[in-house]
Amino acid sequence: METRSEVDRLQEVYHEYAVRGFGQSKWSPANKGNQAIWDECHGKLRVLLRRAGFFPLEARRILDVGCGGGEHLAAFEAWGARPENLFGVDLILDRIRLAQQNHPRLTFKLGNAEALPFAEGAFDLVTVFTVFSSILDGRMAAKVGREIVRVLASGGAVIWYDFRMRSPLNRHVRGISRRRIQGLFPGFKMSLETLSLLPPLARRLGALTHLLYAPLSSVPFLRSHYLGILTKP
Ligand SMILES: C[S@@+](CC[C@H](N)C(=O)[O-])C[C@H]1O[C@@H](n2cnc3c(N)ncnc32)[C@H](O)[C@@H]1O
Repeated sequence: METRSEVDRLQEVYHEYAVRGFGQSKWSPANKGNQAIWDECHGKLRVLLRRAGFFPLEARRILDVGCGGGEHLAAFEAWGARPENLFGVDLILDRIRLAQQNHPRLTFKLGNAEALPFAEGAFDLVTVFTVFSSILDGRMAAKVGREIVRVLASGGAVIWYDFRMRSPLNRHVRGISRRRIQGLFPGFKMSLETLSLLPPLARRLGALTHLLYAPLSSVPFLRSHYLGILTKP
């Protein structure tokens, strides 16, 4: 059974974000700081996938849980994955509609990841980009974690990217510690690194982003996220 109160809360929160136009303002891909965060994350992700032996991606089946508008999933197509092997799931209808509109070659499903509409072992990779930080109810988080474990093939991996610290500017988000990540995927081999300059700071760098992003993000306590891979035994 789904965690109804958390589903309702998430729907309200994402409705509020949409009404306040965050997609076009603070999260806008036109902001140079947001671009730098994206480029750093995707650059490191490609290295990580290569090191873990997932390239070439051509035959890999990939699921993006909490896919939002599908941009991360679309990047996998650009890196060589076949569109028919790329799937996204999200709870929010508007986000799924946007994803379908922007990336019609990929498959997007509206639904709660507490019950994923896929068979056991169906995927080589399951990606979660800033999803668990949005889920404040531990019961929902645990169920989503179990579903991800179920749909992953043995030897497959979870790609994790999420806040490691809470944001004082957004009470709807929490940081996820290494211990909690491992707890969601018990028995998985976990490798994590810190990255991403604190977004409120990165977004203010403006024209100086290309000069300042790298030195500032090299300061460990200014890095807000974990990126990593968790391999299913
Ligand atoms: C912060 S957004 C990130 C979206 C996208 N992954 C990205 O990085 O651009 C978190 C997403 O997770 C989705 N989400 C949260 N809980 C979910 C659940 N139980 N089932 C499916 N999607 C969920 C939300 O609807 C939202 O689109």
